[in-house]
Amino acid sequence: MRISVVGTGYVGLVSGTCFAEMGVTVTCVDIDEKKINNLNKGIVSIYEPGLETMIERNTQKGRLYFTTSLKDSIEKSDAVFIAVGTPPDEDGSADLQYVLSVAREIGRHIDHYMVVTTKSTVPIGTAEKVKSVLNEEIRKRGIEVDFDIASNPEFLKEGNAIDDFLKPDRIVIGINSDRAEKVMRRLYKPFLLNNHQIVFMDIPSAELTKYAANSMLATKISFMNDIANLCEKVGADINSVRLGIGSDTRIGYKFLNAGIGYGGSCFPKDVKALIKTAGEYNYSLEILKAVERVNNNQKSVLFNKISSYFGGKLKDKKIALWGLSFKPNTDDMREAPALVIIDKLLEAGVDLRAYDPIAIDEAKRRLADKNITFVDDQYEALIDADALVIATEWSEFKVPKFTIVEKLMSKKIIFDGRNIYDPKEMKEFGYEYFGIGRKLQ
Ligand SMILES: NC(=O)c1ccc[n+]([C@@H]2O[C@H](COP(=O)([O-])OP(=O)(O)OC[C@H]3O[C@@H](n4cnc5c(N)ncnc54)[C@H](O)[C@@H]3O)[C@@H](O)[C@H]2O)c1
Repeated sequence: MRISVVGTGYVGLVSGTCFAEMGVTVTCVDIDEKKINNLNKGIVSIYEPGLETMIERNTQKGRLYFTTSLKDSIEKSDAVFIAVGTPPDEDGSADLQYVLSVAREIGRHIDHYMVVTTKSTVPIGTAEKVKSVLNEEIRKRGIEVDFDIASNPEFLKEGNAIDDFLKPDRIVIGINSDRAEKVMRRLYKPFLLNNHQIVFMDIPSAELTKYAANSMLATKISFMNDIANLCEKVGADINSVRLGIGSDTRIGYKFLNAGIGYGGSCFPKDVKALIKTAGEYNYSLEILKAVERVNNNQKSVLFNKISSYFGGKLKDKKIALWGLSFKPNTDDMREAPALVIIDKLLEAGVDLRAYDPIAIDEAKRRLADKNITFVDDQYEALIDADALVIATEWSEFKVPKFTIVEKLMSKKIIFDGRNIYDPKEMKEFGYEYFGIGRKLQ
């Protein structure tokens, strides 16, 4: 089989590479010439564990190609996947300009039957819009070409994307034709050998499924953050509560960690977009509105603790910040909670030294105009620091050499936005420790 994947970001590049790994001939397309030139030289612009090696292997085997020409890529394709960005528009709705411009380009060049599939996260009705745009372009050419549309939302997690794609919990496909179903079944067959589920449904349900999944996960996070804030008031410990409720199989342990709010390229924009979609149908998603409110407040919780500890006098305080990416194992800083904390700390006049194992280059690019000292070593950030702030739970932060930490810092104070340390142990080590919803004694 042959397919094209349009957009070589976190989703497109991983999807294309994993399909190639399963024996499909894949051409990945992007309008970013530099990205494509780099990929053709084996240089990968994003950090995703295992991806570079897999790209190299499949390129060498002649199953994976990169081009800027969508026309060439779809020439012999059985299916084309649209995996470009759908960033939030000013009003919170998903901006479909990239998806629809790809659809237009496909319509200009399609000359045989194929399944045109949206893999980007798109609002209900987008596949129909893609179909209209394609038909419009085909009509302009005065020809007739048969095609089907499908919706195949992607559920991979950055940082674990390859594993998620190769061994998916489920594959969701929205479809309205038997012919298209046959193509998708053939394409996904190798992924289903280990009993991974493929769920076929109508297209609007598939489009909504992706938003509902992300919104449910965001809800779990905001719920636990809300409970964590209550824990601090009533003298309970969120970690104990987490263990107590997670052991209930109806609830489960996943996504129950309290922290400084969700970020990243998906949850914030998808929650917003679903609220917006509901509004367009005169429905108010009350739960999601609260989820968003709780999350926005939660991003300030750690700063408020820092500010209150220092009595609001943060000017010239030396603060070490560990972690910049929105979560571990990625260099993605889109909507990272660290960004909110950084802004607030800088506004308060602190002398900030920041470290991240992977996102440091992305941070230097993104925060070039800010007065931050970026360091290449986690301990270097601690020199003479009045406090350490943890914003991302990278593994290497979990068991640091505390003997070195205490020698370097001028005061033994830790603000832990990810609850990676045990308050009791910190107390024994002589630290003043502030987590999220943790009992101090
Ligand atoms: N990042 C994730 O973890 C994740 C997970 C599941 C779903 N999604 C969804 O998948 C979609 C893509 O997300 P992403 O994080 O991979 O985006 P991204 O920003 O990393 O990549 C998008 C790519 O599309 C390219 N592009 C834009 N317009 C194009 C065009 N006309 N032709 C060809 N290429 C074009 C861009 O140059 C860029 O390389 C979004 O809708 C997102 O919500 C993302």
